[in-house]
Amino acid sequence: MKILVTGGAGFIASHTNVELLNAGYEVVVLDNLLNSSPESVRRVEKLTGKKITFYQEDLLHEEAVCKIFEAEGFDGVIHFAGRKAVGESCQIPLAYFDNNITGTLNLLKAMERYDVKKLVFSSSATVYGQPETVPIREDFPLSVSNPYGRTKLMIEDMLRDIYQSDHSWDIALLRYFNPIGAHESGEIGEDPNGIPNNLLPYVAKVAAGQLECIQVFGNDYDTPDGTGVRDYIHVVDLALGHIKALEKLNTHPGLVTYNLGTGVGYSVLDVIHNFEKACGKKLPYRITGRRPGDIATCYADPAKAKKELGWEARWGIEKMCQDAWRWQSNHPNGYRS
Ligand code: UD1
Repeated sequence: MKILVTGGAGFIASHTNVELLNAGYEVVVLDNLLNSSPESVRRVEKLTGKKITFYQEDLLHEEAVCKIFEAEGFDGVIHFAGRKAVGESCQIPLAYFDNNITGTLNLLKAMERYDVKKLVFSSSATVYGQPETVPIREDFPLSVSNPYGRTKLMIEDMLRDIYQSDHSWDIALLRYFNPIGAHESGEIGEDPNGIPNNLLPYVAKVAAGQLECIQVFGNDYDTPDGTGVRDYIHVVDLALGHIKALEKLNTHPGLVTYNLGTGVGYSVLDVIHNFEKACGKKLPYRITGRRPGDIATCYADPAKAKKELGWEARWGIEKMCQDAWRWQSNHPNGYRS
């Protein structure tokens, strides 16, 4: 089966490409390289000994996207492409609507035109907003509070509408919790531009001596140690969830929605202490005020993915930190080193 992977040079996509190739899929990557490096594609080829067809292209270029569909003849699409920084989305919402919404529309139009109706979409636990209780189930109410989250929810809504109008589509909405870690080889991993917004890459850069001190955004939450609790998931486990979702789509399930998380919550301090063990040094941190828009606690009920996909996260926080540290220390400047 030939799969188009949009945003295929990015963090989660590169790990998914490894698992796709290992499982015998043919992979075609489309990426505009706005926030990613073609080096990740080369590394995946090296790790797997298999070839990837790579197009440096933007989903906003509708005609170019159609030409790729025409030339390649895909069997399915995994759609990762999109902007993903919450803070930035509040400053430049139009760029988010343009990239994420218009880009997805162009992709969907090409899929319809070339009769490719199998889609795995990268959604996010952000669509649950402030959940009333945890663990979070897929049938919980949906709401969002920033433009990034809104694009994820709007795309989910669009896909539900498309499926309602045409039951020949098979669509998996995968709601990711907090992906961290890296491939065990230490050859691919997360490589954010500039100063990281997310906790783990920030901690890794403090451990590497590239940033001075971790800021812990609040210790007055209603959690065991007062710091925010999240469901961190190893990116390789997450990648394997995509393979299971594709297998599910082959059974023509219609539109299906799954949480991809571990079901276990760790606090910011838990993460810092586990990273200290992985890198073998004490990490400086200080408590600052809460980050606007953050919630206290967020973790998944992953039972539905286990039951219907036969998928379950295997790795715990120790391995996530060890693998993230291996990538960080092997490649201090990410794909630029
Ligand atoms: C964030 C996004 C979420 C998005 C996800 C993608 C927000 C509010 N949410 O999730 O919509 O889908 O990234 O990866 O940005 N923290 C610190 N210090 C830091 C950074 C983070 O204490 O320097 C804390 C946060 O307050 C939070 C936890 O660490 O409690 C995790 O934060 P982060 O890695 O940014 O992920 P989320 O906010 O959960």
